[in-house]
Amino acid sequence: MFNLSGKTAVITGGGSGIGRAISQLFARQGASVHIIELSAAAGQATADEIAAQGGRVQVHAADVSQQAQVAATFAAIGRVDILVNNAGIAHVGNVENTAEADFERVYQVNVKGAYNCLHAAVPLMKQHGGAILNLASIAAHVGLTDRFAYSMSKGAIFAMTLSVARDYLADNIRCNSVSPARVHTPFVDGFIAKNYAGQEAEIFDKLSQSQPIGRMGKPEEVAALALYLCSDEAGFVTGCDYPLDGGFIKLNT
Ligand SMILES: NC(=O)c1ccc[n+]([C@@H]2O[C@H](COP(=O)([O-])OP(=O)(O)OC[C@H]3O[C@@H](n4cnc5c(N)ncnc54)[C@H](O)[C@@H]3O)[C@@H](O)[C@H]2O)c1
Repeated sequence: MFNLSGKTAVITGGGSGIGRAISQLFARQGASVHIIELSAAAGQATADEIAAQGGRVQVHAADVSQQAQVAATFAAIGRVDILVNNAGIAHVGNVENTAEADFERVYQVNVKGAYNCLHAAVPLMKQHGGAILNLASIAAHVGLTDRFAYSMSKGAIFAMTLSVARDYLADNIRCNSVSPARVHTPFVDGFIAKNYAGQEAEIFDKLSQSQPIGRMGKPEEVAALALYLCSDEAGFVTGCDYPLDGGFIKLNT
């Protein structure tokens, strides 16, 4: 089960955190993995780990927000069976203190980046079918304090997932999303360091306890669900969002 042999999987942001775990697992399951990364060094570090275990992997240095770079990258890859739109950035703020430049930056990477990859990948997938997985967030579904721009971007991911799933049913392209609560990755450590300097331990504990299960998720736990959703075993699943949230949405009473 969950064998990806013979499949080409493109994973954006595979140099860190969730994207790194997905790249490693998909390669272990036999996929030929293509990592699209802004940080070529981070992408290469993941690729070196995969290659050391005998996996097939290539890194493409590109910024997902730049359509020309994304188009050239997908043209070079040529065949796409699986696309994981994972690259994303965080932002903390409410509607009043979110500056235009920050709103724009979150939009460019999280929303337009996903659009650019979908725009390039779907024509290639139409040739033989495929599976798309988008990284949404609990921020797409519940009101979180001080996540105005980030929630906007993840709500858009959720809506784009439904749109693509609907439009390409006849092309045998499935499209789903996952909505993690807090997952312990460099993304989380970076945003705690940037926004809560001096209170790191306290905020880490608070963020852990905000999941009723009492901890943050692990990148490997997101990768396991990603593998299922991108595998042939999930052939009946499309247009769905899966919370992966330690009970955040349903059990936070
Ligand atoms: N960590 C969490 O708690 C959490 C929760 C819910 C959803 N998510 C989502 O999961 C995804 C991955 O999060 P993570 O925690 O692993 O993040 P991370 O910061 O650890 O990794 C993100 C990777 O994306 C790359 N990247 C950023 N901008 C890019 C761009 N413009 N072009 C190409 N690559 C780019 C970075 O270089 C980095 O390697 C994001 O979309 C995030 O919003 C994360």
